[in-house]
Amino acid sequence: MPLKIKVEKVQEELRTHFIGKYIFFTREIGSTNDWAKELAEMGAPEGTVAIAGTQTAGRGRVGRRWHSPKGGLWFSVILKPDLKPSETVKLVFWASLAVAETLRELYGLKAEVKWPNDVLVNGRKICGILSETKTVGEKVDYVVVGVGVNANFKVENELPPELWETATSLETTLGKQVALEHLLKALLEKLENLYQTFLKEGFALILAKWKTYTSFLGCEVEVYSGNEKLEGLASDVDEEGALVLRLRDGSLKRVFAGDLSLKIRR
Ligand code: BTN
Repeated sequence: MPLKIKVEKVQEELRTHFIGKYIFFTREIGSTNDWAKELAEMGAPEGTVAIAGTQTAGRGRVGRRWHSPKGGLWFSVILKPDLKPSETVKLVFWASLAVAETLRELYGLKAEVKWPNDVLVNGRKICGILSETKTVGEKVDYVVVGVGVNANFKVENELPPELWETATSLETTLGKQVALEHLLKALLEKLENLYQTFLKEGFALILAKWKTYTSFLGCEVEVYSGNEKLEGLASDVDEEGALVLRLRDGSLKRVFAGDLSLKIRR
């Protein structure tokens, strides 16, 4: 399976109005999120996509490194939504829902979402989302939503040993490689479709669908924020995207995505 993505092929077949109208591809870059920000600063319109064959400085949440070998799908989309800065966290739910639905529809995988920004298959992370917002005063100038899908590589060959237990890839799960053009096209169409649902019908519908793909609600979880650890029952994710935890003393605590990571206690 060729590792280079044929952007012209994707664009010929793409049925979207604005997401992917402009697609920039390069074989190698530091981070597609940084590249997309540069494009946005130069006036690139909403829906512009920056995609790379490999990232040398891929970034994850909480300042973590994101390993981005050849064969993965690493891209970022520029959005200019009419949202308050505090509401842009909702875009992480939109993007992870789009990825989970696409993986289910294309490959029949039981893809699940985990608060706040992961997509899992068989309990292992297959995709991460990194959303970054540029604000001017109280207004959102643009948001860059970066999507990283572990696709055509074997986890043991390309990712460091400390990730072998917690990460997976399409190749590892399906036992074969997939056509990246086909996956990108389907993802961009799903992203646009759900973005329009979000704008027309509001976040509640996106969140309701997102919740149907979770398996952590109702489970005992640990939430980490720096050195601090919170333990409790994951009771809900509310309309602001906050995790509602029931603590040991019975009280409810809302936790915002920020710098947190969540571990499900099995
Ligand atoms: C996470 O789970 O911590 C988020 C990972 C996000 C990775 C993607 S790959 C494309 C885009 N460019 C980056 O540098 N990061 C995001």
